[in-house]
Amino acid sequence: MPEEPFYSRGLRDVAACQTRISFVDPLGALYYSGYDIDRLIGRVCYEEVVYLLLNNKLPNKNELADIRSILISEMKIPKHVITCLKYAAKKSHPMENLRTAVSQLGEYDTYNDEDYGAKNKQRALKLIAQVPTLVATLHRVQNKQAPIAPKEEYGFAENFLYMFRGKPGDPQEITALDYYMILHADHGLNASTFAARVTASTFSDMYSAVISAMGTLRGKIHGGASERVMGMLRDVDNLGEVEAYIKGMLFDGKKIMGFGHRIYRTEDPRSRHLRKIGRTLCQRVKRMDLYRKCRRIQDVVHKERKIYPNVDFYAAIVLDALGVDREYFTPFFASSRTAGWTAHILEQYSESVLIRPTSTYLGAYGTKFVPIEKR
Ligand code: COA
Repeated sequence: MPEEPFYSRGLRDVAACQTRISFVDPLGALYYSGYDIDRLIGRVCYEEVVYLLLNNKLPNKNELADIRSILISEMKIPKHVITCLKYAAKKSHPMENLRTAVSQLGEYDTYNDEDYGAKNKQRALKLIAQVPTLVATLHRVQNKQAPIAPKEEYGFAENFLYMFRGKPGDPQEITALDYYMILHADHGLNASTFAARVTASTFSDMYSAVISAMGTLRGKIHGGASERVMGMLRDVDNLGEVEAYIKGMLFDGKKIMGFGHRIYRTEDPRSRHLRKIGRTLCQRVKRMDLYRKCRRIQDVVHKERKIYPNVDFYAAIVLDALGVDREYFTPFFASSRTAGWTAHILEQYSESVLIRPTSTYLGAYGTKFVPIEKR
């Protein structure tokens, strides 16, 4: 019998690739190309973070102006894709439509095996620019509203909000979305990034790799958690009900959405920022009841299980206060994470190695064959 390979359930504690893009510190810090996000937030805009993730350095003024103008000019999507979004199945989830639409974008980009190097960085920027437009356009057409084109004079998050809602955001809202996008831009070798890297490791095209990531992000224990956090906040009528609700869920062996993490052993640093933004926005839209419920849930879950909120918990009230419907929470996450996914895809291409683990075989050997008439 061959020797059994080492098995790690869920690949826990296995380093499956080497990266310079980001580091998730179990003690509660997140670094983008060496920079602690606590130091970046409030000092850089999302476009700077995109540049940082793709180039492993922050841009100077000219480089920032360049990447801004590239991103804004690439935001427009082909007319045919808009038409397809109009005819998307009405009862489907926006993540299903988004996945299909990214595939359609790929149809407009002719690949050949020789052009992976230089052209792929342009593709990355195109995808980073166009995924938010797909999300905004889908939302508009599904609500029987005309799609809105991006404005050259607007920043990236500003354009996203404008195209999604059909009216310009005010400075506080734009900053909130900009911060949200920065905080969601990358996060080590999370499940969707891993999926993207596996696809890229076969030298498949960048669109396919991003679609792999999107399909993975959608799951309820990954990016799909935030949408369910909103469901939980709606299920609990008032503060007094929180404790019994949470205890009941835990007693039934259910997981509390927006809590727990594979890497962090303490609070997720992104959650701290989102909590602050969520509080400000809830105050603004007079939904402090939602914020207070979140705080109470956080206290009860910590008391019961000693676990902390992750990025998806307070993101729910941030997006809700920005007027984003809950089924669009994961598409907003995907819109921001496309930056990290594409940075990792580029890094994976340059690694030039197939990601192909092995498995521990639990089946039988040498089973006697029985012809079909005798089975
Ligand atoms: N609610 C209740 N208990 C939780 C929990 C949660 N959200 N997250 C973890 N736990 C418990 C587990 O039941 C397990 O307890 P046990 O050791 O008694 O069996 C322990 O904490 C370890 O959790 P585990 O599921 O093994 O950790 P993991 O690394 O495999 O999973 C997540 C990490 C994120 C998938 C998990 O915490 C989860 O499903 N969270 C909810 C979904 C979510 O918010 N996802 C977004 C992640 S950013």
